[in-house]
Amino acid sequence: MATTDTPGTGSAGTGSAGTLYRRITDYANRADPYPLYAELREHGVARQDDGGYLVGTYHEVAALLHDPRISSDRRNRTVPDEVQSVPVAFIGRDDPEHERLRNIAMRPFGPPHAPGRVDAMHDEITAIAGELIDGLRGRDRIDLVEDFAYPLPVTVICRLLGVPREDEPRFHAWSETLIEGFDPTPGTDPAERQRVALQARTEMGLYLGELAESRRGRPSGDMLSAFVNDPGPGGGFTTPELMATAVLLLIAGHETTVNLVTNSVLTLLRHPEALRLVRERPELMPGMVEEVLRYEPPVQLLPQRTALTDVEVDGVTIPKGAPLVLVLAAGNRDPRRFRDPDRFDPTRQDNQHLGFGSGVHSCFGAPLARVEGQIALTALVRRLDDPRLLQDPPVYRRSPILRGPRHLPLAVSGITD
Ligand code: HEM
Repeated sequence: MATTDTPGTGSAGTGSAGTLYRRITDYANRADPYPLYAELREHGVARQDDGGYLVGTYHEVAALLHDPRISSDRRNRTVPDEVQSVPVAFIGRDDPEHERLRNIAMRPFGPPHAPGRVDAMHDEITAIAGELIDGLRGRDRIDLVEDFAYPLPVTVICRLLGVPREDEPRFHAWSETLIEGFDPTPGTDPAERQRVALQARTEMGLYLGELAESRRGRPSGDMLSAFVNDPGPGGGFTTPELMATAVLLLIAGHETTVNLVTNSVLTLLRHPEALRLVRERPELMPGMVEEVLRYEPPVQLLPQRTALTDVEVDGVTIPKGAPLVLVLAAGNRDPRRFRDPDRFDPTRQDNQHLGFGSGVHSCFGAPLARVEGQIALTALVRRLDDPRLLQDPPVYRRSPILRGPRHLPLAVSGITD
């Protein structure tokens, strides 16, 4: 969906439904998009001036996530030919191709073939979190993002995939370019952005493909090695499929969890009573993480769906071929689904949020993200002595999709053991 937004021209809460996507993606509204999401829910389905559609009510978003008439396949969208010709990972494919590829990727990661994989990483993640916090001793100012929330998931996903941690600057640059490619960034030509992103995706894919290839015949316990050495009964990935999947896993594995940890700390510091509660009762931490996934979800919206046929939603016909954006973060605050939805309540019981999506594309890495979030937050809450926000709202990352602070400067009185 094309946008023409310009930073600094936000107008949250005003204007017509037809400009909502432009306003949601406007960087000026990044710190607080929630009034716009409320406006979207009032409209139900909002047709945009460029012919796309936005949906932000819980039941409708959830139904569309399960609807086979709604495609995730990038080939159904108008993009340049060379972009089409590059293999896309299973997040951008429909069943049955999606299911085949997801099953191959799942083989070394979860049930039925590797059911204990995430549990087995528990101690390792705890150790990584502990070391990062130990490294903060002697400091009275920290940037939660740079010092903790970014390095933690990067280290975890690198170990899981078998990517050398010291290559982080290379894949971080590719990853940022790739994310910009699917972001509706203001003032740039979408086709040009996609071409640049394509180049980053190709370079990253070649890098990961070579790493996997170097382990052929020498299994080393990581996922890249498993993809080439233990492909499973169906024969595993082709080389282009492996490259596309590895790119997806590396990006999804580190660009999302960073927001979960940072959004959690920001939310807890804005709600001191909730912070006190989870500090006194660490057993509430899993529920707290779920509540952040509802209240400040790291993935706010899914911008790449297409209607394969005319689809009626809430009395509106979304025509065949129309681009569709599903606003998970708006559904998560729908008063028709959640009681008192704008209240952050770590003890909330009925909390089937949309933070990990739903349906066949629901998050592949959710068990890992949950464990990482719970371990990270437990360690931070216990060990940061009197943390205080130095900037509120903080400076946000550009992306309206993967939304979270770029930096979160904190003052601390010390680090406890
Ligand atoms: C808090 C952290 C995370 C959040 C909020 C999150 C969110 C999501 C969401 C909303 C989707 C659905 C996309 C769609 O329907 O188009 C998704 C899919 C996916 N996620 Fe995550 N994710 C997180 C962490 C991870 C991690 C750690 C990994 C990898 C280990 C991962 C791998 C994936 C993959 C591969 C898909 C595509 C699934 C499919 O198409 O079948 N995610 N994630």
